[in-house]
Amino acid sequence: MTVRRSVVVGCGGYLPEKILTNDELAQRLDTSDEWIRDRSGITQRHIAAEGELTSDLAFAAAHSALGAAGVSVQDIDMILLATSTPDETFPATATVVQSKLGADNAMSFDIQAVCSGFVYALATADNFIKSGQAETAMVIGAETFSRILDWQDRGTCVLFGDGAGAVVLKAEPGQGTTADRGILSTHLHSDGRLHDLLYVDGGPSSTGEVGFLRMEGKEVFRHAVVKMAEVTVEALEANGLTASDIDWFVPHQANKRIIDGTAKKLGINGDRVVVTIDQHANTSAASIPLALWVATRDDRIKRDNLVLIEALGGGMTWGSGLVRW
Ligand code: ACO
Repeated sequence: MTVRRSVVVGCGGYLPEKILTNDELAQRLDTSDEWIRDRSGITQRHIAAEGELTSDLAFAAAHSALGAAGVSVQDIDMILLATSTPDETFPATATVVQSKLGADNAMSFDIQAVCSGFVYALATADNFIKSGQAETAMVIGAETFSRILDWQDRGTCVLFGDGAGAVVLKAEPGQGTTADRGILSTHLHSDGRLHDLLYVDGGPSSTGEVGFLRMEGKEVFRHAVVKMAEVTVEALEANGLTASDIDWFVPHQANKRIIDGTAKKLGINGDRVVVTIDQHANTSAASIPLALWVATRDDRIKRDNLVLIEALGGGMTWGSGLVRW
């Protein structure tokens, strides 16, 4: 049987030049490098420059993904941008990126699922490709979370950073087996009753202001370990695979302790887990594509490797994806 698969043909990323270390944060906040590293694994984060917008980060990542893919920009017929920090309330930041890229043949829209945004966007693009409505999709995760942080709240502001990552997906025929290259499956979930655990206290129709990120850290932690393990098991079972089949586990980079806890639950050794949280902090929807970019550039993730991704974010939303590279 021949099926349509969405194959990753290129991956790119971009990190703003400015680095903010834990020690620098400790100079202006009642915190310490030791506390931040012990509780989260973070040592530094990148911060967008004044006037540097989410669309600028997204464009740079998309441009680097296009170069890696060797695909003409005119072949891109879909741009999906996962972000919770758009340039403006409307239009979709994806359309700004379209214009910057000159991708005139694309349809473009944003996906809003906070830290799960990239998994949601990948699933959406995959379904458009599988149904024949798209051939070549640019899927981007880009965030400037530094703009929605309350820099007086030491319980949240130390955890996040700015950045962008992108992949190019192309329709290719497969046999319908797990040996196919491309996205094998995606699983998405949400539970709106958990809104109060992680949200931004503003918006166009509520306060008329952008607002700041608010989080019940301990509760988010509890849900993250349970739900991320569940949704990865769901991905493996749906494909008749086990954790030992996974070459690379690329989790959302929320907290090193959450990553370790989930990997341990799944029985995946640390040497098969891609970790960037130490350098990037939590870049929300950008964290998975940035980690994919890092691990493809240093030749850890190679063609035909089986890659498992998963994320959980505000909403709450969570999801997983299984991709043969
Ligand atoms: N520096 C120093 N002390 C701090 C800081 C800080 N930056 N932040 C909080 N504290 C203090 C608290 O005030 C508290 O002090 P108290 O005992 O005197 O009241 C103490 O440290 C312990 O605080 P807790 O909140 O209990 O610390 P905890 O061990 O839960 O760690 C953390 C907090 C790191 C936020 C943890 O709960 C966590 O990682 N949660 C998951 C949140 C997350 O990853 N969110 C990302 C978005 S969602 C996602 O991407 C999955």
